[in-house]
Amino acid sequence: MYGILINGAGWVARQHCAAYRNRGDCRIVAVNDVSAERAAAMVAELGLDNVRCHTELSQALRQPDVDAVSICTPQHLHCENVLEAAALGKHIVIEKPAATTLNDLRRMRDAVAAAGVKTVVSFVLRWNPLLVTLKKMLADGIFGTPYYVEVDYMSYNGSWWGGWKDARTIEQGVSASLVAGCHAIDAARWLASTDANAAALPTEVFAMAGGVRKGRTREFNPMNNTWTDNAPPMEYDGLEVILMELANGAKAKVCVNAECVMPYRFPIRIFGDKGTAVDNKIWSEFFPKQNDWIEIPTILPDSSNVSHHPFQAEIDHFIGCITNNVESHCNLADAVRSHEVVFAALECYEKRVPVKL
Ligand SMILES: NC(=O)c1ccc[n+]([C@@H]2O[C@H](COP(=O)([O-])OP(=O)(O)OC[C@H]3O[C@@H](n4cnc5c(N)ncnc54)[C@H](O)[C@@H]3O)[C@@H](O)[C@H]2O)c1
Repeated sequence: MYGILINGAGWVARQHCAAYRNRGDCRIVAVNDVSAERAAAMVAELGLDNVRCHTELSQALRQPDVDAVSICTPQHLHCENVLEAAALGKHIVIEKPAATTLNDLRRMRDAVAAAGVKTVVSFVLRWNPLLVTLKKMLADGIFGTPYYVEVDYMSYNGSWWGGWKDARTIEQGVSASLVAGCHAIDAARWLASTDANAAALPTEVFAMAGGVRKGRTREFNPMNNTWTDNAPPMEYDGLEVILMELANGAKAKVCVNAECVMPYRFPIRIFGDKGTAVDNKIWSEFFPKQNDWIEIPTILPDSSNVSHHPFQAEIDHFIGCITNNVESHCNLADAVRSHEVVFAALECYEKRVPVKL
């Protein structure tokens, strides 16, 4: 039985709780939040029994019944949270973005490696049923060698999201691609590799930023298709177009659009020398007489609501890594590669030249 600590009792934490509770080998033993009221409210709302509530992470982590922790605090706190958990030998799920600076990411990566604890960074879309299906088809050779992948993150993030008060600022959110577009960067890496258990490694990045939303106080809410005035503004560019060269020779394009006036979308294109995927539509030489797109009935990554995200599969994977003593394909060391693209893109906006990784 694994004792689980939930750190940060907000929106995404509720999904982590549900996933652990569905397992017979995990028990949530404690919840930590800077707000005692928020911790108590989550415990009451979910009907968690025999759970301690803390307001100090160091105290919560020191309890001997804590084996693993889900870090669900705002991203600017993840580094100090992870360093503390690793030093105490706890296994860690780290919500994305894993940190807000490259330096912090590398310190965290080195600390968890030195501590020998298991990590999973919450690039939860790797477990979305469409991505699972496409990865299997890539590994089975249905598309041949992928030479070009496109994944776009299109979501008008704003005040409808509780985490936005931190995420909208340069200091705590950094950029549209760090706050959330990193899901698309990571998915492009994942789908550019035919290795069933690995993402392609980015070697070079070129990117442009733009859009018109930065600094504006008029805000769209895609959840109910309304507009408000006097919203606290997003401090960074809302549009980023990022090109990646991968070590296997494939190219990828990621568009992060945090100012699209439309419902959330996460479009995927894979082009290989034997076939193509356009979201869940497939064309391949493996079906020599096909005369129309083959459409796979499955769950697409087409919602920004965390209740739609496959946290159960992610947490099952995390516990499996601990139990079987194996590293996750989505551990901190791998996730740093996706984050490095975010920071390389920022460098491109300043220097206007490609950045080698
Ligand atoms: N993987 C995904 O798809 C996904 C989805 C949503 C959010 N997230 C990430 O999860 C993180 C949390 O997002 P959220 O939407 O749940 O935000 P939220 O604001 O709903 O929850 C954050 C919680 O952390 C608490 N907190 C703040 N400072 C703290 C501190 N110093 N110590 C302890 N607790 C503290 C807050 O009181 C709040 O309860 C963010 O990094 C976000 O990017 C990831």
